[in-house]
Amino acid sequence: MNDQLKALEQIKAAEATLLLPTYERNPLLFVGGESVYLTDEHGDKYLDLLSGIGVNALGYAHPAIEQAIAAQSTKLIHTSNLFFHPGQAELALRLTEMSGLDRAFFCNSGTEAWEAALKIARAYAGMLRAEGKQIGTKFLAIENSFHGRTFGSVSTTHKAKYREPFAPTLPGVEFVRFNDVDDLRAKFSSEVCAILLEPIQGEGGIRPVSSEFLRAARDLTHSTGALLIADEIQSGLGRTGKWFAYQHYGIQPDITTVAKPLAGGLPLGAMLCTEAVSQAIHAGMHGTTFGGGPLACAVAIAVIDEIKSTSLLSHVTSIGGYFQQALSALQSRHRSIIDVRGKGLMLAAQLDSPELAKAVLAQLLARKIIINRTDETVLRFLPPFILQTEHVDSTIQAIDEILTEIEAAAGQQSQQAVAQGGR
Ligand SMILES: Cc1ncc(COP(=O)(O)O)c(C=O)c1O
Repeated sequence: MNDQLKALEQIKAAEATLLLPTYERNPLLFVGGESVYLTDEHGDKYLDLLSGIGVNALGYAHPAIEQAIAAQSTKLIHTSNLFFHPGQAELALRLTEMSGLDRAFFCNSGTEAWEAALKIARAYAGMLRAEGKQIGTKFLAIENSFHGRTFGSVSTTHKAKYREPFAPTLPGVEFVRFNDVDDLRAKFSSEVCAILLEPIQGEGGIRPVSSEFLRAARDLTHSTGALLIADEIQSGLGRTGKWFAYQHYGIQPDITTVAKPLAGGLPLGAMLCTEAVSQAIHAGMHGTTFGGGPLACAVAIAVIDEIKSTSLLSHVTSIGGYFQQALSALQSRHRSIIDVRGKGLMLAAQLDSPELAKAVLAQLLARKIIINRTDETVLRFLPPFILQTEHVDSTIQAIDEILTEIEAAAGQQSQQAVAQGGR
């Protein structure tokens, strides 16, 4: 290791000239973690309610993950998809049972899982056309959506800032207004091969799709043979208290995608689909060098088995309910909180201005609590599933104090302005 690259300031300076500036990083250098806490270079502990953007569901230094990595890394890390290893079938057995779908394709990230979903949807529509059915190639995506950074993903992602610098994006995508059933019906036709949605929009501000909208999307797609594709990369694998957010609605999609917490922090994604949809793919049509490697699969199996054996889903439901209630109680004390929403441990408190959201975030960080801001005004909470009530209580107390201080300062300023105006 380079001795010049140990301290935060040295690393910051080196990155400024060596890396693409894709992120505005917070000025923190983490060197370790345990349970729901991260530890920085000075040994200071931070309560992490973001968990690596919804990845570290079991928190840090979890023994089940450490043991799975240790055991598998001494056996086999990579073989490519040209050969068999036991992990993919073993993991697919779990994911198909959890999702109610039939087959899995493994890849390395959320965006790759989404690309696989888009590609198989087009291939499936092609297969139906070859059978004489009338079905087009158009995707209906949803306003405010986020599906990742590769070309298919940005083309189906709504926000201009993610799409426009890379224009032209892929043709054949139309956006429907969020939760607007009339708009969905108006834009749906036999030209559509799939409706694409996040059951709970993540980057878009933790916005759950309405039951009516999801039902309409399912009924419309059933009427023509088009597919319903649910992006569960942020909401899936237990984050909402069920394995998949669509299970809260009792509606089954034809395809779903997962990634973030799947392999406990190692890169792994999966596209899951029905048997019928899988018929559109044959050997050589799609693939990946790394996807579904032995190490990532072994860890994913360990993560899922740990969630099951410790009944973490019901814990997510109860601690998530406790957290949401506490946020709602906070909302009743602070008018600047204009909405509280979400499910399980995918929660949001929307504030009345981006500046306030930024200030709250910065002050929480100063108090060693990590969350993030999405869609400008939304405080987003994606904590590890092992969160306990004391972590919720200390976070709520911190936000309460911060908002009270900010409100008092704003009150003083407006009193001064009134006094000066009266002179
Ligand atoms: C709903 C959703 N889809 C897709 C992605 C992209 O996943 P990744 O960053 O692993 O490519 C994300 C990432 O935040 C997401 O939240």
